Amino acid sequence: MSVFARRQDNKNLAMDPIAPLRDFVIAMTTLVSNNLQEDAVLSEGTPLLERLIKSNSWLPDFCATPHPDFYQQFLLHGDPLERFSVVSFVWGPGQKSPIHDHGVWGLIGMLKGMEIAQSYQRLPNGALVTDGKEQRLQPGQIESISPQRGDIHHVRNALEKEPSISIHVYGGNIGAIRRHVYDPTTGASKSFVSGYSSDLVPNLWDRSGVRNQIQHQEG
Ligand SMILES: [Fe+2]
Repeated sequence: MSVFARRQDNKNLAMDPIAPLRDFVIAMTTLVSNNLQEDAVLSEGTPLLERLIKSNSWLPDFCATPHPDFYQQFLLHGDPLERFSVVSFVWGPGQKSPIHDHGVWGLIGMLKGMEIAQSYQRLPNGALVTDGKEQRLQPGQIESISPQRGDIHHVRNALEKEPSISIHVYGGNIGAIRRHVYDPTTGASKSFVSGYSSDLVPNLWDRSGVRNQIQHQEG
């Protein structure tokens, strides 16, 4: 990209800070409209999410604020046909999830801080055993989740004194999907629906920055 093009890009971003999220939502909408197999959605969605998490300036403050007691899941966009949703997951220092599943495919992109995830397998007798080693997710890295491969894990903020934020894309309206949490000792499961941490979503469609451009041009 030329210096001029980069300057123009930065100027456009300053006038339209939510543009990276809007571009991502448009690209994901196109992707899920192609009725691809799960593996293809995950592999083609990965570079889209990689591009989104290159910066965090597009994430509104209200979707980046940790709660002192609970991890937060803010809806960034819900597909009107509930084919996918995008959320910011905000961990306060030292916070962790229970062992849980998802029921749909997912992509997790680390935006800020660091997360540690441990996968589990469920044996035929219902007991849970760890599946592989703990995975550390650093900013810029992407992890995928697939119910076909097994999607039980728990996640924690690797940082004891700082918040961490990851951006997740799921193959459904994740806040409304009936899922399960698991007892680590017995493997017993309990249904839950996560919901979202706020009633608000970012406004992807405010293009009023264009006004400033017109004023500038017509002076
Ligand atoms: Fe999860």
